[in-house]
Amino acid sequence: MNFAQPKIMLVGAGAVGSSFAFSLLQTYAPAELMIVDVKADFAQGNVWDLEDLQAFSRSTKISVGTYAQAQDADIVVITAGVPRQTGETRLDLINKNRKILQSIIEPIVASGFAGYFVVSSNPVDILTQLTAELSGFDRRRVIGTGTLLDTARFKVALARKIAADPQGINAYVLGEHGDSSFVNFSEITVDGRPFQEVATLTATEKAELEAAVHQKGGKIIQAKGATFYGVARYLGKICQAILENQNLVLPVSAPLTGQYGLDNLYLGTPAILNNTGIAQVLEVPLTAGEQIKMQDSATQLQKILKDI
Ligand code: LAC
Repeated sequence: MNFAQPKIMLVGAGAVGSSFAFSLLQTYAPAELMIVDVKADFAQGNVWDLEDLQAFSRSTKISVGTYAQAQDADIVVITAGVPRQTGETRLDLINKNRKILQSIIEPIVASGFAGYFVVSSNPVDILTQLTAELSGFDRRRVIGTGTLLDTARFKVALARKIAADPQGINAYVLGEHGDSSFVNFSEITVDGRPFQEVATLTATEKAELEAAVHQKGGKIIQAKGATFYGVARYLGKICQAILENQNLVLPVSAPLTGQYGLDNLYLGTPAILNNTGIAQVLEVPLTAGEQIKMQDSATQLQKILKDI
């Protein structure tokens, strides 16, 4: 696809959506950014607030939109939904957010939209799968933020522990964006070198790092009510990878078609992102123990999908 005048529609102008718009406009200038929110005032307020960036940035047409105007959008970013409260898991949100999702996807598809869906609403793996099912779109054009945020959290925690630059760490958190995600420690590299040449971690230290990743979102929610900067920034990276045809490898919620022995399921795994959306889902090598964790993540999500 050739994006001459990239147009992004943001659905949901809450903390994640507005932070996404704020972050995106500082690194990338789509021709158009259209904001839709059930609270019209909220969408308008964000449009006015974001306009104030434009004295120092290339001009993007920023406006309040309606679902019908998704017709010529390249990407629809979905951040709408009820966020997690303290004590709730991402999976607790499923019933509320499934209905909201349906009310979004149907009019957008009806508009004739033929671009890419990028989803961050939780539980993200399930809602990305439902977006694919409700829209009937080719699954390469439906992407969830998946374990991108978990991976970022892991890199930051590991970098701090071994005094390294997180940008030099190549590592993935895999599986569900949530409490059953895991790290495939055996494949980590630091500045291109195998991890074991750089540092050693005991089994306890590895478990502590994974637990820190699992607990980070909850810790932020408890302290400030919501998490948004991380996921907002990474939503922007996914959009930019598509619109700039970057062939960027990111861990996202991607449709598995046999990888890890799993099929017909969105789950966190690295994938190549370019102007075809998910150009390729990558299967990283797993140890037998890691494969069991991947299967556990999948089993949990499959059970929920079956009950919907
Ligand atoms: C988090 C939310 C976005 O992990 O799921 O911060």
